[in-house]
Order: sequence, then C-alpha cells, then structure tokens
Amino acid sequence: MLQNVVVSGITQRKIVFIVSPEMNPPDITIRPETRSDHEAIHALIVEVFRETYGTGEEEAGIVDQMRQETALGPYVSLVATRHDALVGHVFFSPVTLAEFRNVPVCTLGPVGVRRPWQRQGIGSQLIRNGLEQCKKHGYQAVFTTGSLEYYPRFGFAPISTTRLFTIFRTEHDMVLELKPGLLERVSGLVEYPKPWLASL
Ligand SMILES: CC(C)(COP(=O)(O)OP(=O)(O)OC[C@H]1O[C@@H](n2cnc3c(N)ncnc32)[C@H](O)[C@@H]1OP(=O)(O)O)[C@@H](O)C(=O)NCCC(=O)NCCS
Repeated sequence: MLQNVVVSGITQRKIVFIVSPEMNPPDITIRPETRSDHEAIHALIVEVFRETYGTGEEEAGIVDQMRQETALGPYVSLVATRHDALVGHVFFSPVTLAEFRNVPVCTLGPVGVRRPWQRQGIGSQLIRNGLEQCKKHGYQAVFTTGSLEYYPRFGFAPISTTRLFTIFRTEHDMVLELKPGLLERVSGLVEYPKPWLASL
C-alpha cells in the first residue's frame, strides 16, 4: 500500500508492505511429525480440544489409531513449532468412497493450535501446507466436519453441494476437490475407518 513516510523532515511517498500474520507467524516452523513428536501431539490435542469443547482423548485417540491404519493410504501429520516447542498440529488420513474405492480421498482433522497461539495464521499455514502434501500423495478430495465459517477460506464447500454424504450426516460436513471435476462424477457414502466411528 502507498503511505506518506517522513524521512529527515521530508515527506516521501513510499510503498509499505503490510505482512499479514498468516504469511509470517512469529518464528514458526511447519514440518512433518517425527516418531518423537507422538506423545507431545497427543497432549496438545487433549489440551486444545478439552479447553474448546470439553473433549480431547477421543480426537487424540483417532490420531494414535489412524497412524496404524496404513492399508488405506498414507496419513499427513504436520506440526507447528516455535523454538522446538509444539504450538499446533494438523492430521489428514485416508477415508473411502464406498462406490468408488479406487479414488484416493482423505479427511482433515483434528487440527489444533494452542490457545495463546491461535488467530495468528498458524492453523491456516498447517492446513494449506497439509493440503499440498495430500495433493502430492495423490488424494483427489479432502473431507472435513467443522466450522462453516473457517473451512471455506481453504476452498471447502458443504458436502450437500455434491451427491456424497458421510455417516455423520451433519450440516458441517464439507469437502474440497483436489482433482478438478472429481465431485461431478462421484456419489454415495464416504466411509470413515473404525477409529472415527467411536465418536458416533
Ligand atoms: C481452529 C484452529 C485450529 C484455527 O487455528 P488458528 O491458528 O487460530 O487459525 P488462523 O489464525 O489461521 O485463522 C484464524 C481465523 O479463523 C477463525 N476461526 C478459528 N477457529 C474458528 C472456528 N472454530 N469457527 C469459526 N472461525 C474460526 C478466526 O475467527 C479467525 O478469523 P479471521 O481470520 O477472520 O479473524 C484453532 O482455533 C483451534 O485450535 N481451535 C480449537 C480446536 C478446533 O476447533 N479445531 C477444529 C475442529 S477439528
């Protein structure tokens, strides 16, 4: 943006770059999880979801269990760290289209950022980075269940705009197409693996 800047008593017209927090959260590193992060990730999910929804073990348990369910496809698990301390985490894991089993698709969640670090763009960075990884793994669509205000900024739309549905059947079910045109040719049930069904 153009701003008037006073330099040595002379007003000059200068271009000033306003850096949004999402582009540059302070000293944050986004990287794939390692084995040694597992315990800290579990603790972070429990903390964030307990504070927000009064839950936590359920969401952390899904991550613990889905790491073992490798037959369906790879998972993507990214952490946000600041000076080596964990401040955020996002998890993507495979789900199945019951009538199109050869189409690789996955689900986003849980995603959590420690309360003091929320609203600084870290959740967005984790999600955008994770979606890129999902694309690289060949996933053609990503499902999630959550805020109808938050996820559309990443391109998610209500699943009701497609011919798909999940077993959860909530109005918060959303989908993001990673392969253009996919959502026009698929329909039916999105199956979630067993660890997800404990929450029903
Ligand atoms: C959701 C969450 C991961 C977002 O992380 P974050 O780092 O705070 O998000 P960002 O800074 O990238 O984005 C902040 C924006 O998201 C919005 N937002 C965050 N959580 C939201 C929610 N549950 N519903 C609606 N909007 C939300 C904020 O209002 C803010 O909007 P703005 O940019 O218009 O001001 C974080 O708030 C969190 O951990 N929440 C608790 C756990 C949770 O609800 N997880 C999602 C369900 S799986």
